[in-house]
Parts: sequence; C-alpha cells; structure tokens
Amino acid sequence: PRPILLTRHGESRFNVRGRIGGDSALSEAGELYKKKLAKFVEKRLKSERAACIWTSTLQRTILTAGPIVGFPKIQWRALDEINAGVCDGMTYEEIKKNMPAEYESRCKDKLRYRYPRGESYLDVIQRLEPVIIELERQRAPVVVISHQAVLRALYAYFTDRPLQEIPDIEVPLHTIIEINLGVTGVEEKRYKLMD
Ligand code: G3H
Repeated sequence: PRPILLTRHGESRFNVRGRIGGDSALSEAGELYKKKLAKFVEKRLKSERAACIWTSTLQRTILTAGPIVGFPKIQWRALDEINAGVCDGMTYEEIKKNMPAEYESRCKDKLRYRYPRGESYLDVIQRLEPVIIELERQRAPVVVISHQAVLRALYAYFTDRPLQEIPDIEVPLHTIIEINLGVTGVEEKRYKLMD
C-alpha cells in the first residue's frame, strides 16, 4: 500500500482569533507543529525517495512545509481553503450578527451554501477533481498540507463518505491522517503530534 498523508497547516494567527480565511502566518503552536511534522515526515518517509509534499498557495501551508527537507514541494491553488468571499476574515459571531440571513442559509445547507462572491463545499469538491486524479496516479507517497474544508472533501473521497456528511467531518489541527490505498480497501491511521 502507498500512503497518502493528510494534514492541516499548523495553527494560524487567524485560527487563534477565530477568523476564517485570510492568509495569516503561523501562531506559536503552529510554529511548533511544523517542526514536529518535519521530524515525523522525515522518519515515516525515510526510504521513500520519490515522495513529495503538496501544499496550497496560502502561506500557512507553505510555512508548515518549510522545515521538511529532502522532498520536492508542489503548490496547488486547488488545495486553497474554501473561499469565504465577502465573509473572508470575519469570525462566525460577526457573520451571525452582521449577515444573519447568510448565517442561517449556511446552517440549513452547509454543503450547497455558497458564500457571496465565494465558494460552496460543492464548488470545492469540484475543483479538487484534478488533485484527486493526480493523487491516484502517483506511485509514491504524497504529503498533502492543506485546509480543513479541502481535507474534509479529500478524506471523504478516499474513505467513501456520503456527500452530505462532508462539511461536518472532523479534521483536527496538528494531526496527521494516513490513508493507505491497498488492494483490499482503505486503511486509516491517525497521528496526533500535539494537543
Ligand atoms: O475557514 C474555514 C474553515 O476551515 C472551514 O470551516 O466550513 O466548518 O465553516 P467550516
């Protein structure tokens, strides 16, 4: 079996303040995670010479990949976080207070709800298609450093979860989800590197 390692970026400064989207750098905890992740990846993929690291184009994933050496890194725009459009940079509280109708419609149908001038989960799932095709073609391990909404969709694809569940799947910070695609099916392991 060939492992695919999925992880969110280390905690960002926006995460700390409860703000969605943006392009902030890492928090102190995020800085620690990037070091732990590099050690983990170097050990886990020691003899895997053809492995590679995929990130989004947002700096929190690129910074998280920073200390990993010895593997090529590729940036994919398709791995960028769900685009929250006019809500980018807001907290959920602010959205609820300033745009209650938007907040309500998202609660009612999180999968299909599209942020004004932004994306829905269905949009994200669609733009991930080329990433999935390439992930399936790869013969060597791939480490995907991306974002919560995107990783929910990728994880759901590989573990065969129903579409409707995707927006509520837990993808915790500072945890590596290893997926092994074998002939008999999919095997999953989780490595929680920090609390
Ligand atoms: O910034 C966006 C979050 O990572 C996605 O969270 O879709 O559950 O609001 P949500």
